Amino acid sequence: MLLFGGTGDLVTRKLLPALYRRFAAEQISPQSRIFGIARTALSRAEYLAQAEVACREFLGKEFDAPRWSAFSALLDYVKLDAEAEAGYTAFKALLEGRENVVRVFFFSTASGLFSAICSNLAKAGVVTPLSRVVLEKPLGHDTRSADLINSQVGMVFAEKQIYRIDHYLGKEAVQNLMALRFGNALFEPLWRRGLIKHVQITVAEELGVERRGQFYDKTGALRDMVQNHLLQLLCIMAMEPPASSDPDAVRDEKLKVLRALRPLRDRDVLTKTVRGQYKAGAVHGAPVPGYLEEADIAPDSTTETFVALKAEIDTWRWAGVPFYLRTGKRLQDRLAELVVTFDEVPHPIFEKPPTTRSANDLVIRLQPDESITMTILAKNPGEGMRLKPVSLGLDLGETFKVRSLDAYERLLMDTVRGNLTLFMRRDELDAAWGWIDPIRSGWEQFDEGPKIYIAGSWGPAASSALIGRDGFAWHDEL
Ligand code: BG6
Repeated sequence: MLLFGGTGDLVTRKLLPALYRRFAAEQISPQSRIFGIARTALSRAEYLAQAEVACREFLGKEFDAPRWSAFSALLDYVKLDAEAEAGYTAFKALLEGRENVVRVFFFSTASGLFSAICSNLAKAGVVTPLSRVVLEKPLGHDTRSADLINSQVGMVFAEKQIYRIDHYLGKEAVQNLMALRFGNALFEPLWRRGLIKHVQITVAEELGVERRGQFYDKTGALRDMVQNHLLQLLCIMAMEPPASSDPDAVRDEKLKVLRALRPLRDRDVLTKTVRGQYKAGAVHGAPVPGYLEEADIAPDSTTETFVALKAEIDTWRWAGVPFYLRTGKRLQDRLAELVVTFDEVPHPIFEKPPTTRSANDLVIRLQPDESITMTILAKNPGEGMRLKPVSLGLDLGETFKVRSLDAYERLLMDTVRGNLTLFMRRDELDAAWGWIDPIRSGWEQFDEGPKIYIAGSWGPAASSALIGRDGFAWHDEL
């Protein structure tokens, strides 16, 4: 496994700890080799020392020194300028004699470098039929740039060798949403217009832009989160039951959802989207700077750190059911959840409980805990027939009592094993960008810029107004 961007945040904070855990679970054989690859001049010992510090920090109590020394025997470092062809000859020697084993090239660099890396790998003759390439998101910054990257990568790797990662698809709770929908007959008849009033998808973060100011300021929340994570969650939520769990059967159905999304064009952005940017505030009582005061952010930046929008899917199943999507940095809590709100009874025979909540909400929580909760109305004990909302809850951690795999653990092993189900196909990516691009251009033409919100809040007031106009409220505001 060759990890390009080997000294970066993703490799040190996520990929190496994930590989360590899979090694500890005896899923990675001691004959495997993992190379960190980056531009910095580092000896193997120096790289290992850096990797160890990161793994100790991120693995906490799971870190075990003897196991680390066994794992780190697999690890090595290669200094490389990704754009300079000459350096790649080193790989030939490194990979010599391993033609018949799986090679995973993981690109955790800016996507602008992907095509250079691909063509240099090809010229060095190290891409074998058993090779796979993993592409980190965001892939490009719009339809055209994504298309160009995909074409260039496609000149070296066949589509079935390309793993476009969206780590949200690797989260246990997302897999559980699939299990809930397609492993049980119970929900299917209810999963449609006429019975579902609306759906909300929230991915809220407490964190700011951390050390990624440079990247983030060019990217913004729409490209960083909505184009991929939120749209993928929407797809899993809204797709038709696939004919099988084969990668293409699943991906075909997701693609149909993306293609059925009603475009948000021109002035639509004014009524159906909200973009925001945080100013200084406090998250859980701790003061935090505003976005414009963060490192590597242009002082007059208009990059959005928050997006809320209303998506509509033009199909028989979903016509008229709004999907509200919301994501942002420096919000009040770290929270990722899908909320499905079911319709009220057509004719109430009991007194309505004094609550603004709907009778039946299904909440699928991905973070911070993994759970599925259904609210129903039950009779309040005592005289009279008064109803009260109560919940039926499934705490997945409590129930299974095992640590769930980190998304990257699963996805890395899927690449090694050759399972593409949880990775995006090229046409999915095109469709996702195709829906996102007009929103961006609508903002550029018609919108006055991001609405400011205080760090530690739930975003700009306009976000509550967006959903409020349809007579609903965000789940956490009820
Ligand atoms: C990444 C984004 O894809 O997802 C980050 O680039 C974001 O900006 C992260 O913080 C959130 O992932 P998670 O798994 O922590 O919710």
